[in-house]
Amino acid sequence: MQIHETIAGVRAAMRTAGRVVFVPTMGNLHDGHIALMRQARAHGNAVVASIFVNRLQFRPGEDFDKYPRTFEADCQRMVEAGVDHLFAPAEVELYPQAQSYYIEPPAEHASILEGEFRPGHFRGVATVVMKLFSIVQPQAALFGKKDYQQFMVLSAMVREFGMSIEVIPGETVRAPDGLALSSRNGYLTEAERAEAPRLYRVISELAAEARSGARNFADLEARAMNILRINGWLPDYVAFRKKLDLQSPSAHDSGLVVLAAARLGSTRLIDNLEV
Ligand code: PAF
Repeated sequence: MQIHETIAGVRAAMRTAGRVVFVPTMGNLHDGHIALMRQARAHGNAVVASIFVNRLQFRPGEDFDKYPRTFEADCQRMVEAGVDHLFAPAEVELYPQAQSYYIEPPAEHASILEGEFRPGHFRGVATVVMKLFSIVQPQAALFGKKDYQQFMVLSAMVREFGMSIEVIPGETVRAPDGLALSSRNGYLTEAERAEAPRLYRVISELAAEARSGARNFADLEARAMNILRINGWLPDYVAFRKKLDLQSPSAHDSGLVVLAAARLGSTRLIDNLEV
């Protein structure tokens, strides 16, 4: 695996790389990332990953400073996963001065769900991904469905800007007890880790009820929030949405996803399930 720390270096390597398939990450890789990298292999001849903890997508007080940085272990895992190139710029390489141009996703995509609780988050994500895309110039890029709203926002960005990049979803990878893999799971105490799979169980029950015809979404959502609360969680939302645009469904809509975000102790977890 070739490691590139500079924009010039990765650009030069990409010139002769053939069809480039890109997996952007913030590092601290888990099996979910590795599954994306393995999946990438089938879509092109050069698998390129990036590691960059993007300050722009964190709000003051969020976990930017404590976000786990595990570069050596990540490199080892990427070599095993068959990644050809890693772009791992220092912050000063990607943001040599404060970023003043931004990609501003529309409020109906970026101020709902995660965007309501993390204002500016998707602006930061879209801006860095646009920047990474313009540096790496991939023909395809993979993003996990664990961050369902992120996948939707980035797909819409690529479509609206007419970029010739195929945006490919990766399935959420779960621990045997159902907990969706996430770098933030590492923040959980032992007791919280034992409780954490409840989030998946709760949305699984909701999805099952919706599949068998339940259509009082507000009632189902309120019940789920309540179950989380009595088990010590602070839920931000549990919400049924339409898969395509994440807007609220009406009773006759199909193609739904149920999304949830909740805090357990000091750790905020998110998950979702397609119905
Ligand atoms: O999903 C992530 O890890 C990040 O949001 C991304 C897409 C790498 C942008 O920083």
